[in-house]
Amino acid sequence: MPSNPLSHATLFLLLLLLSTTLAKNHHSPAAGRHPHHAPKNATAVRLRQAYDALQSWKRVIYSDPRQLTSNWRGPDVCAYRGVYCAPHPNDTSITATVAGIDLNHGDLAGFLPESLGLLSDLALLHLNSNRFCGILPSSLANLSLLFELDLSNNRFVGPFPAVVLALPSLHFLDLRYNEFEGPVPPELFNNNKLDAIFINNNWLTSVIPASLGSSSASVVVFANNRFSGCLPPTIAKFADTLEELLLINSSISGCLPVELGFLYKLRVLDISQNDIVGPIPYSLAGLAHLEQLNLGHNRLSGTVPEGICALPNLANFTFSYNFLCEEEGICGNLTARGVAYDDRRNCLPEKPRQRSEKECEAEKPVECFEGECGGREIHDGVSVSATSPPPS
Ligand SMILES: *[C@@H]1O[C@H](CO)[C@@H](O)[C@H](O)[C@H]1NC(C)=O
Ligand SMILES: *[C@@H]1O[C@H](CO)[C@@H](O)[C@H](O)[C@H]1NC(C)=O
Ligand SMILES: *[C@@H]1O[C@H](CO)[C@@H](O)[C@H](O)[C@H]1NC(C)=O
Ligand SMILES: *[C@@H]1O[C@H](CO)[C@@H](O)[C@H](O)[C@H]1NC(C)=O
Ligand SMILES: *[C@@H]1O[C@H](CO)[C@@H](O)[C@H](O)[C@H]1NC(C)=O
Ligand SMILES: *[C@@H]1O[C@H](CO)[C@@H](O)[C@H](O)[C@H]1NC(C)=O
Repeated sequence: MPSNPLSHATLFLLLLLLSTTLAKNHHSPAAGRHPHHAPKNATAVRLRQAYDALQSWKRVIYSDPRQLTSNWRGPDVCAYRGVYCAPHPNDTSITATVAGIDLNHGDLAGFLPESLGLLSDLALLHLNSNRFCGILPSSLANLSLLFELDLSNNRFVGPFPAVVLALPSLHFLDLRYNEFEGPVPPELFNNNKLDAIFINNNWLTSVIPASLGSSSASVVVFANNRFSGCLPPTIAKFADTLEELLLINSSISGCLPVELGFLYKLRVLDISQNDIVGPIPYSLAGLAHLEQLNLGHNRLSGTVPEGICALPNLANFTFSYNFLCEEEGICGNLTARGVAYDDRRNCLPEKPRQRSEKECEAEKPVECFEGECGGREIHDGVSVSATSPPPS
């Protein structure tokens, strides 16, 4: 079950921090200067809007086995269970507004109505592990202060929700364990605000866009989708921020780009259970912060480079279920380095629990070329695209 890395306890702290940071950065010139233009009581207007939004949401929550919304009654929305109020970060005339909603693990069933757009000051929306279904309302684009959106482990459907791309303050996006389908819009990676992107365990297809822009994400999890194609060399554009890249079971094929080794901040790299061919790039030896490396269950061949085994922070190196046939230097004895490893089912001549000779001989070597991600099988000295069937 996915759980939000930000615990319930840090929620208040974050809200507080958020309101003070935003307040510092944006002074509100309007407050007090034109009192005749402002509504009589801006706080009351906002809380009334929130009341309308939450009441119409409650009407489309069809199952609430834990009675979470049972106290969603009356005008005092700040007392509703799971609803958190704070002063507006950017408008001193609003002394209380709905800034956070946390209904994680609520088991609520229903959908998100258009009226949620009225919660225009929301900074956090956590709906992890409920049974919300349908699509996201386009009115969410009105949530210009939304910082964290966690919709993981629900039943949302439809194409990738474009509305999340319209949220100017979004830093944390968690859509995993839903039923979103179709292509991932390239704009998701041309966003210089998003810090964490979790889109794993959906039905997303299409290649990882080659036109990756300058993303600021430190964590990207794509795992368990139905992508195709290879990991584009433009992955290097994540270099200044990316610390965790999880591409497990994502139907990735082709060769690994040399540029993967440019992601110098990586601590976790897991590209297991794909259809990746060719050698392990030597460039991975440049990942000085790498702790966890999982290349298992692919079709990698050639040598395990010593530079990777010598990485100073490496704690776990899994490369089982490939066709690797040689371990350079200390790669042959990772135990001596105190590194946990799994080298089973390769073609390593000196090691136990390897593939049969027959299996190893049947696997054709693959040549990889810089800037080209397909990889080519070598048949009697002739290169053939690894993605098309070999000549008979
Ligand atoms: C404005 O409305 C809020 C919430 O209803 C209330 O607590 C506050 O006292 C009101 N302020 C004034 C100046 O009337
Ligand atoms: C804060 O308010 C100012 C003036 O009303 C506005 O220009 C700015 O975009 C606001 N900032 C945020 C983060 O809402
Ligand atoms: C967007 O927010 C503003 C300010 O709170 C509100 O007046 C407006 O009705 C909202 N729009 C939608 C579509 O909910
Ligand atoms: C791999 O992903 C596919 C498609 O998303 C899914 O059906 C399958 O269960 C996943 N396999 C594992 C081992 O998680
Ligand atoms: C090493 O990583 C593999 C794959 O992620 C995992 O299954 C294994 O439990 C890890 N071993 C240790 C000792 O952490
Ligand atoms: C690996 O290194 C350890 C410690 O240096 C040593 O005891 C062990 O015999 C070595 N294993 C092999 C297979 O060389």
